[in-house]
Amino acid sequence: MTDVTLSSKNPTAVKAEALVVATAQTSDGVAVVSDLLPTDLLTQLETLAPQLGVTGARDEVRRIPAGSKLAADVLVLTGLGERAEDGTFTTETLRRAAGAATRELAGLKSAAIALPASDDAEITAVTEGALLGAYAFNRYRSTGKDAGKDAKNGKDPVAALEILTPLHKNAKAKVAAERAEIVAAAVHAARDLVNTAPNELYPATFADAAKAAAKDVKQVKVTVLDDKQLASGGYGGLTAVGQGSTRGPRLVKVAYTPAKPAAKVALVGKGITFDSGGISIKPAAGMEAMKSDMAGAAAVLSTVVAAAKLNLPVAVTGYLCLAENMPGGNAQRPADVITIYGGKTVEVLNTDAEGRIVMADGLVSAVEDGHDVVLDIATLTGAQMVALGTRTSAVMGTDEVRDEVKAAADATGELFWPMPLPEELKSNIKSKVADVANSGPRWGGMLNAGLFLKTFVGDHPWAHLDIAGPAFNEGGAHGYTPGGGTGVGVRTLLSFLEGRASATK
Ligand code: BES
Ligand code: MN
Ligand code: ZN
Repeated sequence: MTDVTLSSKNPTAVKAEALVVATAQTSDGVAVVSDLLPTDLLTQLETLAPQLGVTGARDEVRRIPAGSKLAADVLVLTGLGERAEDGTFTTETLRRAAGAATRELAGLKSAAIALPASDDAEITAVTEGALLGAYAFNRYRSTGKDAGKDAKNGKDPVAALEILTPLHKNAKAKVAAERAEIVAAAVHAARDLVNTAPNELYPATFADAAKAAAKDVKQVKVTVLDDKQLASGGYGGLTAVGQGSTRGPRLVKVAYTPAKPAAKVALVGKGITFDSGGISIKPAAGMEAMKSDMAGAAAVLSTVVAAAKLNLPVAVTGYLCLAENMPGGNAQRPADVITIYGGKTVEVLNTDAEGRIVMADGLVSAVEDGHDVVLDIATLTGAQMVALGTRTSAVMGTDEVRDEVKAAADATGELFWPMPLPEELKSNIKSKVADVANSGPRWGGMLNAGLFLKTFVGDHPWAHLDIAGPAFNEGGAHGYTPGGGTGVGVRTLLSFLEGRASATK
């Protein structure tokens, strides 16, 4: 990952390849937002910017020659948009502008960022945004003529960043920057897993990745149940979904246990390493995006590891529900009846509604283990995208926990929106033969899935995060979000854990 340091250097004197400065839209043009640049330079830039067509709009990033007054080679202007009513910019605005800028810095060795960073919230936002934008997944590109790595593609993120702040020696600022580095590394790790090709990442190798991620992280223990142990242990959901694949399912528990935990939280993640739909097979167009159907499990793994690295005083156990959903001679069929861990039966009406089946095993297991609260995160339904689009995730569950997740998300800049679980829709998932059916009518598809999960948690404090759209960006990069795996959920889950840590202190 990009190396970051806080520094109080004067931006005019920084000898980096690029210097990043913020612009903003004002009623009469463009403002250059900097407490650190000399006024004559600000005036000069504010005259030049409109002449170059720079507007200061959010997500606008422009490189210009640095000129003789700056020691840097290139000046990068990153837009903040308009000021909020109170005259400030939100932390999410700073985070996004920093990330948009560092995406533009790919291929460089060094850069300095002179965005507003005069308290620890701003330092966190700028550092986090800069690191989140400084991401590339180039593992599969070779070098040389006609290879994937050329002048345009496959550039590595900027190697080193200096964040310019008057608080560079302040202890709280240093903690804020270190936290941002841990958080960004966790998001990167989740993105890497999502971007990894499904011929490489399948349940057994995902379990290995969990062990590797937890290695050398103190107080984190990984236990793996393999396909045989799952079958004999009564985990009928993971077993049924995984049986169509030659690569068997796994249930991985990743437990972080600090000395005196103030709370005990379970995180259950959907880890379908490839979702072909199974016998209820998906259409060919777009099926490749279903390598991302393990994004929930990736977010959970990254969150538990980051919680340990941050020394949060909260015990967290991640349950990674890993299976590959494939059609095959031994695949489950529509009409099969299976028994979830704990004894409830499910009629499988559609083998493409596989996520809720594997999650059921994980949820029952989490509730059995006795946590204060259970959160689950899954790329569960296409209906999530119909309802909220590709950038806003949904959260459902018991009222208080749902609202707590929404507040945790708001604090990080991740977009989540609360959705209901109306009792009367339970008739949608009624089965003619078993306790519950795994699919129902199209209408309210996200809520049907949420209600299905609720069957397996009972009245336990719980929230379900449906990240189907936001987990995988099929469009262009924006702000600090790259194309491909986004790592969504990691920051919200960490923020939730931090909230529990301070609430019970
Ligand atoms: N993994 C999909 C949901 C999904 C769709 C995630 C698009 C990301 C992008 C899930 O397993 C699925 O196929 N759900 C079905 C359920 C239906 C058969 C009841 C869906 O949403 O169509
Ligand atoms: Mn599916
Ligand atoms: Zn799926």
